[in-house]
Amino acid sequence: MTVHHHSGHEINAIRQCSGLKGILKKCVAVGAAAVSVFSMGMQPALAQAPIVIQFSHVVTADTAKGKAALKFKELAETRTAGKVRIEVYPNSQLYKDREEMDALKLGAVQMLAPSLSKLGGDFEVFDLPFLFQDHAAYRKVVDGNMGADLLRSLELRGIKGLAYWDNGFKVFTANRPLQSVQDFKGLRIRVQASRTLVRQMNLLGSEPSVSPLINVFEALRNGRLDGQENTPVNVVSQRLHEVQSHLTVSNHGYLAYAVIVNKTFWDKLPPAIRDTLEGALREATAYANSIAEAENTKALERIKVSGKLSVYTPSEQELGQWRATLDPVAMASRSGISPELVTAIRTATGPPR
Ligand code: LMR
Repeated sequence: MTVHHHSGHEINAIRQCSGLKGILKKCVAVGAAAVSVFSMGMQPALAQAPIVIQFSHVVTADTAKGKAALKFKELAETRTAGKVRIEVYPNSQLYKDREEMDALKLGAVQMLAPSLSKLGGDFEVFDLPFLFQDHAAYRKVVDGNMGADLLRSLELRGIKGLAYWDNGFKVFTANRPLQSVQDFKGLRIRVQASRTLVRQMNLLGSEPSVSPLINVFEALRNGRLDGQENTPVNVVSQRLHEVQSHLTVSNHGYLAYAVIVNKTFWDKLPPAIRDTLEGALREATAYANSIAEAENTKALERIKVSGKLSVYTPSEQELGQWRATLDPVAMASRSGISPELVTAIRTATGPPR
């Protein structure tokens, strides 16, 4: 069992390392420090030390994901009566987008809730634009066999997938109006690390830029980026509406999460503790999924009343042009996404919007 005790100083040091080598090096250093403290007899017996689970994520604590992470902490710590401590690190405090995935594989952090886009492989099917007509269609897929199979497929990568958490449909923001497909031409648009999202922007004639969420505000502010796509909650919580002039309610793609753990760590937990944690996570999941949609509605309202940028809802005709340009079936076949997955989603959910 891994027992981590990190001081604030150590956490800061971990944050500063970037890339695989840095994460590994810091991991070893922190491990050595912990061992030396124990051998000097400065800590109570190891048996009494709580199991520490570090849960890192990249959005603010007041988003649905941020709140659900804290709900999980509260339930897990209460129900294990001090045997487990959950340390939640929001807003890329500990690791940014790409780093957190490396850190999980190395065991430097135990739990994450990245967007499905960042999991790559078959999960990129969820990035296909205009695939889900509504939130219920998306839920049908992840709550069914396909959702379970996809989580299981992560085990080959040393990751155990425990749950799906919702966020919602994405909107576009930019420093100019985005109404017809032609308006995207030549714009530098931030996307998450997903080949499908990169292709989406190429098809729209813009220049995709993959960057960590925490860097987006500054890049939009100083003009290195022209726009980005995200859910209203992520736009507001990262203050992106303060550095953009236009928002288009395109609802073109869905953003959701998988709660994942380092498989070796999870498998080695005492079974009774693991069961308790899984029960706590089930409740935190129900909570996340019960608030996500309303949080996005509220965020979009907040953006509208802020008066900071102009909000545009495309006409059916304009959306028809977007859909033809971003046809999900054509995109899947060219992106190496299994056509069976797309067909299975279509069959389960009915025709797209
Ligand atoms: C993004 O990078 O834009 C999102 O994946 C952030 C998040 O976790 O919602």
